[in-house]
Amino acid sequence: MTPEAAKSAAARAALELLPPSGVIGLGTGSTAKLFIDGVAELVRGGRQLVGVPTSEQSRRQAEALGIPLLGDEGPWSIDVTVDGADEVSPALDLIKGGGGCHAREKIVSAASKLNVIVVDESKLSETLGQRWAVPVEVLTFGHAATARLLSGFGVVTPRKRGDAAWVTDAGNLIYDVAVGPIASPTALERELSALPGVVDTGLFVGRADRVLVAGADGVRHLTR
Ligand code: 5RP
Repeated sequence: MTPEAAKSAAARAALELLPPSGVIGLGTGSTAKLFIDGVAELVRGGRQLVGVPTSEQSRRQAEALGIPLLGDEGPWSIDVTVDGADEVSPALDLIKGGGGCHAREKIVSAASKLNVIVVDESKLSETLGQRWAVPVEVLTFGHAATARLLSGFGVVTPRKRGDAAWVTDAGNLIYDVAVGPIASPTALERELSALPGVVDTGLFVGRADRVLVAGADGVRHLTR
């Protein structure tokens, strides 16, 4: 199975978990994009689904496909959010933010009754941090000072888009912090979040209710 076919299988499996009508959190990334395509098909078929996008990219896609959206201000009562992830631990803790949207994704996730993560098998790891650095969104003011504080946790790399700094939807910057295998994702999330200048981290601890993993044998449902 190609990675693209696996992403598509996971995204389609997530469509089965949606209520007949309701509010759906729309994740970000190449797998979530396939899910949003599927939501649009359901809406075209008459399903009363309304979205809350986790990024401007997902908003543009949803609008172009005719998915009705709620306003950005919240509060929302989201029935199900479906999103991707970069790394998934056996405890279903996650590293997210490969697309630089983890701050919004975390806000939407916290407003959701059910959080479903869609991945292919390449995203599974024995210990979080083994395969992926932790993306940290920081305020532009004093960002080099914040980076110095982050360097106490691992190797810090400023995220770039080509030669320019990567700027998030909220106008902030991202530093990727390679920390290696993480003994306690809960403690690390707490410590990084407490640093001045940090907006949010890509550590999602205890937030995924269900992870749909697509591989050669089909889609496995992992639940907390
Ligand atoms: C964006 C994310 C994505 O969900 C994550 O990077 C996975 O993306 P993809 O499905 O393209 O592998 O967290 O901020």
